[in-house]
Amino acid sequence: MSDFWDDEPHIQAQLQVVRKTIGQTVATAHGFIKPILEDYVNSTGKMLRPALVLITSMIGNQDRSEDAIRVGSVIELIHLASLVHDDIIDRAPKRRGNTSVYAKIGAKQAVLAGDFLLARALSLVSGKERGGDSQVVSRALTRLCESELEQDAGQGDFFIDRNTYLRRIGGKTASLFALSCYSGVALQEINETMNKLAHRIGYCMGMAFQIQDDILDYIGSSKKLGKHTGGDVKSGIPTLPLICALELENEWGKQELKNVLTDRKIPLDQRTTKQVLSLVEELGGIQKAQFLAESYKMRALEEIHRLGNPEVERMLISLFEKLSARSV
Ligand code: FPP
Ligand code: MG
Repeated sequence: MSDFWDDEPHIQAQLQVVRKTIGQTVATAHGFIKPILEDYVNSTGKMLRPALVLITSMIGNQDRSEDAIRVGSVIELIHLASLVHDDIIDRAPKRRGNTSVYAKIGAKQAVLAGDFLLARALSLVSGKERGGDSQVVSRALTRLCESELEQDAGQGDFFIDRNTYLRRIGGKTASLFALSCYSGVALQEINETMNKLAHRIGYCMGMAFQIQDDILDYIGSSKKLGKHTGGDVKSGIPTLPLICALELENEWGKQELKNVLTDRKIPLDQRTTKQVLSLVEELGGIQKAQFLAESYKMRALEEIHRLGNPEVERMLISLFEKLSARSV
């Protein structure tokens, strides 16, 4: 695992058990797909979602670590499955710096491999989750799929409004973050108000995380991110920096960026992509997007302070600080 959790040895140790659980679950695969999936799940990154389950499950007095590890494994497997499918949709050659499952075995097999991971995730759901109900998992999964469907259907349309973008990232990223925090707290069976507070924290965290990720696609270093900058624009996916830049341009009565993007075929060529990246920066789109990411962060921090458990609050805040620091 990355050294991301070095400063939280307790969480790091439990995440190792999550990894082991996922490894054992995937080891039931047969044939050629087994080593491919094992490689893939072993390359897991920061494991933010299971970590959120683990941290939030410490909110009460009961030791819920066993359940938290299992629920965290379910959510991470759902996430891993969704990324296998996402790389097919995006025709992505790389995932976390490694060859993607799609690039290794092609779209047909990769669809099935993603389905397999999803099926294995379901095998870990006990059906009698304390406080948690399958409706919450189902809702998060539904939103995940709906937002990908919506994003794909709208690919190449650069002129979406801010609310459409926020709805999309709410579904594709914030829903699983929210589910993670909700499930962790729900394991303690305190009350529904507390579960909902945790849901909101996860949601705002997920929104801030995805906006930051989208900003990094404009300014990040391709080496560290394991992918090239400008990928979203090139493939016709409008994200917040672009939406904000177009808003600002419109406010100033200009339309250079708008003209560059009007009636464009995707993928955009290298020259146009670069032109869009610099116009977005010049217009202040990145700064405005950073401001919105910050406001989600502030909302999450305010809600974190209402949890009433100093240790859980400390861990969530420290996680936020580390995530905010991943600038390039
Ligand atoms: C990454 O987005 C994509 C997601 C977080 C969600 C993908 C969801 C699906 C494909 C729906 C199917 C779901 C299941 C459970 C099988 P991105 O392309 O912006 O990020 P990236 O740069 O990491 O690829
Ligand atoms: Mg993708």
